[in-house]
Amino acid sequence: MLKTVFANHELENPFMNASGVHCMTTEELNELYHSSAGAFITKSCTPLQRTGNPEPRYIDLPNGSINSMGLPNKGFDYYLDYVTHTPYRKLCFFSISGMSAAENLDMLRRLETSSFDGVTELNLSCPNVPGKPQLAYDFEQTERLLTQVFDFYRKPLGVKLPPYFDFAHFDQMADILNQFPLTYVNTINSVGNGLVIDPDLEQVVIKPKNGFGGLGGPLIKATALANVRAFATRLNSEIKIIGTGGITNGQDAFEHLLCGASVLQVGTQLHKEGPTIFDRLARELSDIMKKKGYAAIDEFRGKLKDL
Ligand code: DHB
Repeated sequence: MLKTVFANHELENPFMNASGVHCMTTEELNELYHSSAGAFITKSCTPLQRTGNPEPRYIDLPNGSINSMGLPNKGFDYYLDYVTHTPYRKLCFFSISGMSAAENLDMLRRLETSSFDGVTELNLSCPNVPGKPQLAYDFEQTERLLTQVFDFYRKPLGVKLPPYFDFAHFDQMADILNQFPLTYVNTINSVGNGLVIDPDLEQVVIKPKNGFGGLGGPLIKATALANVRAFATRLNSEIKIIGTGGITNGQDAFEHLLCGASVLQVGTQLHKEGPTIFDRLARELSDIMKKKGYAAIDEFRGKLKDL
């Protein structure tokens, strides 16, 4: 009952990891591949490997998480080798997050000519590299980059966005995205540059960036749902939505789907619980659907009612 069609692939269910969680190494990727997740994605990569920011750089909180990883990754070739040598059984997404437009274009050119036949996620929203702004908060640069990308890139491509908090920004970004043949828009990345402190120790809880980091988990769910809904109601219907942010149980998943998401990514709770979370989420979402009398997700996807 959870079967989902996405980018011409049939997924057993709509659940997958959010990039960054449990996807840095081939061991972790294999665990996702063998889990009950409907799809999976690699860690956002750069052309060359990076060690990232000093630790501690990821902390679980009672109501979510804060991180400032700084794009540690094993480099583009490591992930390309993995995805082109893994037998196809479940849809694989490849996340790239270059430090410049040139790096992103370089990696996309190499993906285009490779045998990779999954879906590429262009991350426009990493908040954790000191001195580097989140690209998708610069509307002109985003439009310029996507114009350059779609000059040559023909394989399925989506973008990962940061959260927006203003209707003018939803409108402006949707107008830009609607000009391009995007397969999907993934909303939201972590809520950038929060600050979590320990009042007993009178200090910050992560080391990089004086404690500033991206927030995830239940504490960002309302912002995530708002962004999913805002883009679902503004984007061309050919552009699918991946809903990310605050999914810890079947009800959260149901809410994201009601707002219009097609696929659902799980970060903070996957980090806490490990890949067996996908069994629980699938069971809980199925139970909700059965109680409500829904036989398929398409019966309620995007059908959130206004008052
Ligand atoms: C990192 C964090 C992100 O939110 C992201 O989109 C990419 C990378 C990181 O800090 O590694």
